[in-house]
Amino acid sequence: MRFNSVGFALSVGMALIVVLFAFTLLSAAGLVGFSSQEFASGVEKPTTMSDTLAVSTKPTVSTPVSAEEAAQLAAGDALFKNNCAQCHAVDEQVVGPALAGITKRRPVSWLIPWIKNSSKLVAGGDEYAVALFNKYNKQQMPAFNLTDKEIRAILAYAASQELGAVAAGRAVAVR
Ligand code: HEC
Repeated sequence: MRFNSVGFALSVGMALIVVLFAFTLLSAAGLVGFSSQEFASGVEKPTTMSDTLAVSTKPTVSTPVSAEEAAQLAAGDALFKNNCAQCHAVDEQVVGPALAGITKRRPVSWLIPWIKNSSKLVAGGDEYAVALFNKYNKQQMPAFNLTDKEIRAILAYAASQELGAVAAGRAVAVR
């Protein structure tokens, strides 16, 4: 009696193990199972348009086009932080206007004298300068003793920030 019940328990246990093992094998082969279908579709995620875009527009390494441009951007970055950042941001208005895209808005031949001495342009009656000065409550931008080269570097830096141009590997050179 005792021997029989032990034997019965053993054979039931063996049978269970065999069934579990078979189930595991079959489900691994994808033939049976409750969740194998969902799992498989989770792995082979369909590629949607937005997935593709998310991958392809992901910022790559900042690789400006040439070493010369890289040097100009680095110089511009430092000059901007030291001289302009207390009043300007690239992408938002602070005390003065946002400077992203500034070289599209104004020609460099206007920007250089403006940055050197904006009051002189305002006093001289330059139409754009006067309108801007009035729009910003006649707040005077200080005069800067910077060289043309330094100003070009600042402008290149500001222009390159526009739309993440640098992150996308496109530097905007200002010569
Ligand atoms: C003390 C604040 C202040 C500092 C510092 C300053 N700016 Fe300005 N900036 C202004 C204000 C205010 C204006 C708006 C025009 C005005 O009121 O004269 C302006 C206007 C400008 C404009 C014209 C923008 C447009 O939309 O046409 C440019 C370009 C500019 N600043 C560049 C610079 C650069 C480059 C530096 C650093 C070398 C600098 N600014 C430093 C306050 C400042």
